[in-house]
Amino acid sequence: MTLKKRIGELEAIIDGVSRLRLGHLPTPLEPLSRFSEWLQGPSVYVKRDDATGFGQGGNKIRALEFILPEVISSGADLLLTSGVIQSNSVRQVAAAAAKIGLACHYAMIADRVEMMDSDYGSTGNIFLNNLYGATCEPVSIKDNNSRVLEKMADRFRTKGKKPYIVPYGCANLLGSIGYLNAALEIAQQIASREIEITHLVHASGTGGTQAGLIVGFAYLGLPIKVIGIDIDADAEGVRSRVTGILRILAEFIGLESDPLLDRIIIEPGYSAGAYGRADKATVEAITFSSKLEALTVDPVYSGKALAGVIGLSRSGYFNTHDGIIFLHTGGTPAIYAYRSLFDT
Ligand SMILES: Cc1ncc(COP(=O)(O)O)c(C=O)c1O
Repeated sequence: MTLKKRIGELEAIIDGVSRLRLGHLPTPLEPLSRFSEWLQGPSVYVKRDDATGFGQGGNKIRALEFILPEVISSGADLLLTSGVIQSNSVRQVAAAAAKIGLACHYAMIADRVEMMDSDYGSTGNIFLNNLYGATCEPVSIKDNNSRVLEKMADRFRTKGKKPYIVPYGCANLLGSIGYLNAALEIAQQIASREIEITHLVHASGTGGTQAGLIVGFAYLGLPIKVIGIDIDADAEGVRSRVTGILRILAEFIGLESDPLLDRIIIEPGYSAGAYGRADKATVEAITFSSKLEALTVDPVYSGKALAGVIGLSRSGYFNTHDGIIFLHTGGTPAIYAYRSLFDT
């Protein structure tokens, strides 16, 4: 079957799922010419999912496009979710709630990340959450996240509210369809420009982004290797979350999941030792993408993914004739909570 035909089929599958358009899509795919020259390795392109636009952008906007129709049809009047203090996922859920006229309340995991700057708890994403009208209550990383959300939902139900729980990281079947759609977009962009892409590198955490891309490229018959950079310092945890979502998504579009499991590549070497912490490699990636391309990446996710592109290139993992997409998944508002990393 030709790529054109496969693209048409995947488009039809995605069109069959209810969607609320929020993002500015398709996001641009652009060459990083100065960065590639500096790296002296493969040709690097950026897929600008930091520029999905709505609510300051990021990868969860794609997921929410497919989650929100279910929220609306459930008759909910309140979105509940959870995340760390500088969670991008929470910020995008809070933005979506504002846009569709629902309240948003979240469990703020207050003890996962050591505070970086003195205003870590009031700038960046959390500042935006407040502007979008979300409220929160602190919880601990030691608490069972789903139980916390269930209990919270019960509490709101007794007050007559109709809550809908958006899972941690928007990671479920509907959310991952957002990245099937991204795989489709990428296929269309590379086909129309006749560029060769061998690898795609991105920050991987709760799994929906990587699962969606792997299943999407497999469906389209594109041999692009998807490298998930572990940002949690828990590569096996990331692998198991990607696996879980990949299985349900593959079943959803009628692919056998077992043969796809080999395609899950998790690269553990760029996590800086802990979620929310940055190291020299992260800071180098942030500094050079800024200076060479005016491309802002953050210390928690996209900076680690770009550090992965740099490190893998230097280690000889890529050939110079390879074409690499760095998928910029967003997270830029968090950089304001990490100013002390940089001597600017
Ligand atoms: C900016 C950013 N990049 C990447 C990820 C990881 O994506 P996923 O959770 O779908 O693996 C997240 C998750 O919150 C994120 O906020």
